[in-house]
Amino acid sequence: MIAVIGGTGAQGKGLVARWAMAGEDVIIGSRFEEKAKRAAAEVGKLVGKPVRGTTNLEAAREAEVVVLSVPFEAMRKIMREIRRGLSPGKILVNVVVPIQVRPGEVVLKRPRAGSTGEELAKLVPKGVRVVSALQTVGARLLQELSRPLDCDVVVCSDDPAAKERVMKLVEKMPGVRAVDGGPLRNGRFVEPLVALLAELTRRYKVEAVGVRFQGLR
Ligand SMILES: NC(=O)c1ccc[n+]([C@@H]2O[C@H](COP(=O)([O-])OP(=O)(O)OC[C@H]3O[C@@H](n4cnc5c(N)ncnc54)[C@H](OP(=O)(O)O)[C@@H]3O)[C@@H](O)[C@H]2O)c1
Repeated sequence: MIAVIGGTGAQGKGLVARWAMAGEDVIIGSRFEEKAKRAAAEVGKLVGKPVRGTTNLEAAREAEVVVLSVPFEAMRKIMREIRRGLSPGKILVNVVVPIQVRPGEVVLKRPRAGSTGEELAKLVPKGVRVVSALQTVGARLLQELSRPLDCDVVVCSDDPAAKERVMKLVEKMPGVRAVDGGPLRNGRFVEPLVALLAELTRRYKVEAVGVRFQGLR
């Protein structure tokens, strides 16, 4: 079971839809149970499969893989909310990027620990494995369900087994290749890349810009 915390948002809803379409059992988490249920019904109708919605804490409790898809500014607060639901062995997938898209500019913040993944690693209970992933694929593309995806997703973690599990989950989405980005600290390279993608999206006035790395085999 995969829980998407902040699954009512643009990125989270897209991830939920793509995984549900791929046959995964997905649950939407929200600060507000009713909002989660509404989003779940909406996505379920789109993909033709049942999707559940509940509170962030309950969703985190139920799933083995918990995806955090909330704004950077809300990350610490939401971690306090779901911490009790994260027992040892669970995987926390970090989708958070510390950017703000403002009119006319994209602003990249620098998390204290170096990257959002490293920051989360300090906040999770002992034994919870943090994996950063799905930061380089945009919400607009994820939500356009009739169009196959065509992009690479960099996956970083200090736990090889957790990284492998998440890479497999990422590749359940047709058209997406998971790229092994190495340890969690390499999120420091990925986050500025996402800022560049957001800037290019804005500058070229397109829906989204993705990446395909050449030369990997
Ligand atoms: N959008 C993209 O294309 C994209 C691409 C790559 C990575 N990301 C990253 O993915 C994360 C989510 O992006 P998004 O565009 O989906 O964000 P969003 O729609 O603004 O927010 C996602 C969810 O987070 C919760 N939330 C929002 N503000 C909050 C606050 N102040 N305090 C607590 N919870 C709050 C809300 O859920 P509830 O109200 O239901 O609790 C909301 O639906 C961000 O870190 C973003 O940088 C986004």
